[in-house]
Amino acid sequence: MENKRGTWGSNFGFLMAAIGSAVGLGNIWGFPFKMGANGGFAFLVIYLILAAIVGVTVMLGELTIGRKTGLSTIAAYRQLNKKHAWIGYLGLVCGFIIMAFYSVLGGVILRYTAGYLLQLLGVDGFAGAGAGFFGAMLYEPGGMIFFHALFMLLNILVVMGGVRGGIEKFSVFAMPALTVLLVIIIVYIAVQPGALAGYAFMFKPNFAPLREDFFKVLRTAAGQMFFSLSLGLGCMINYGSYLEKKENLQRNALIIPIADTIVALLAGIAVMPACAAFGVDFGAGPGLLFVSVQQVFLSMGSVGNLIGFLFYFLVLIAAISSSISMLEIVTSHFIDRRILKGKEPGRKKITCIAAGVIFVIGLPVALDALGGGGAAIKAPYELLGYTGDAIKGWCDCWLDVYDLIAEGFFMPIGALLMSLLIGWSYGTEMIRDECELCGEKFRLFGWFKVAFRIIVPIGMVVVLIGQLMSFFG
Ligand code: PHE
Repeated sequence: MENKRGTWGSNFGFLMAAIGSAVGLGNIWGFPFKMGANGGFAFLVIYLILAAIVGVTVMLGELTIGRKTGLSTIAAYRQLNKKHAWIGYLGLVCGFIIMAFYSVLGGVILRYTAGYLLQLLGVDGFAGAGAGFFGAMLYEPGGMIFFHALFMLLNILVVMGGVRGGIEKFSVFAMPALTVLLVIIIVYIAVQPGALAGYAFMFKPNFAPLREDFFKVLRTAAGQMFFSLSLGLGCMINYGSYLEKKENLQRNALIIPIADTIVALLAGIAVMPACAAFGVDFGAGPGLLFVSVQQVFLSMGSVGNLIGFLFYFLVLIAAISSSISMLEIVTSHFIDRRILKGKEPGRKKITCIAAGVIFVIGLPVALDALGGGGAAIKAPYELLGYTGDAIKGWCDCWLDVYDLIAEGFFMPIGALLMSLLIGWSYGTEMIRDECELCGEKFRLFGWFKVAFRIIVPIGMVVVLIGQLMSFFG
């Protein structure tokens, strides 16, 4: 059975794939705009605390459950306790929802990449560098659907290749390339006049946003942390399940969050100074990445086409290495089911069907023009009949609804349940014993015991209360 499922070729390959899953649009698109809208420094501090305490602990829990059972999320929970399989199903549903909107966003990135490439090749007419392009693009249903489909197709191709041949091969090349490209852009932006204010926004101590609305900063940072680290839906259970017993789980559980946070910080020190230098409001919202870096590329003259192409290509790589891990959650579940029934895995067919279903779920996100109104389909607030001040943040557009369900509720709930079960039912000893199979001693056992039992659960309950308050408030 082990052979049919496949394993990673090496720990390095696993790390690149896991970091590839973590590093994605969450880091490059989400982190800067959420930090921008939530007070810069204050958000950063809360984010770092959450990642260090909750992120590392949940990562360790997920990787260990995966490696111990050698199974995908639902089967893994079922093996630990028959009654707990439903927690895995929460993750599966969450995977469908996230991948659905992620693919639409990925399609937008794909479109920018293709546009810059064409411009680079001398085929003019791509208005990507123009400020109005983003808004206009959202009102072209055909284009939105086409690129959403194309992005999904790229994912199918990688995931069909399986764990070692597809996902690992892809990530080993993609992750280092991404870091190098990002650093080049940071250096260019650093020498632009006015960039300094961007660094100050991120790094100069300012706790005023916490005094204004602590819960908003906390819940946004928490959601972002889960999303960015791919936690709370069993993605890392899956990736851990392909890991061999000789590998060091505890070290991996530390390296992945650190690498992910470094890339988020790199994205921040690219985008924030760019905003400062080109007069873009830090709090501009989801369009921030597009508006700000677009200005940067425009300022570069004709080199801007090349840098623009490289940049979007980089983001595309990061997005694909993340979305394949979501698709893999769904795919591996059905593969494990077939293997348990004694059938052939049927990876190719399963991948295509899963991707097709997710594509359909993503259509509302592609077609409501991000809630701009008067689009091909109605945004949730239009359906609910809200206007003006009555519109709540979560129903602005279908993307926000999907985001709230996944990042706002499913992921913290998934993390809460897993922590409670490890802390009070399976036992932190189970984590320790599995981790020590690599021959190294488990460190900080006492800390992790308290973290699984008390610290993470309390943190998650506070986050969920904040979430409910904003939903009904
Ligand atoms: N971590 C990815 C990102 O930052 C998104 C993701 C979420 C991937 C959940 C897998 C699972 O873009």
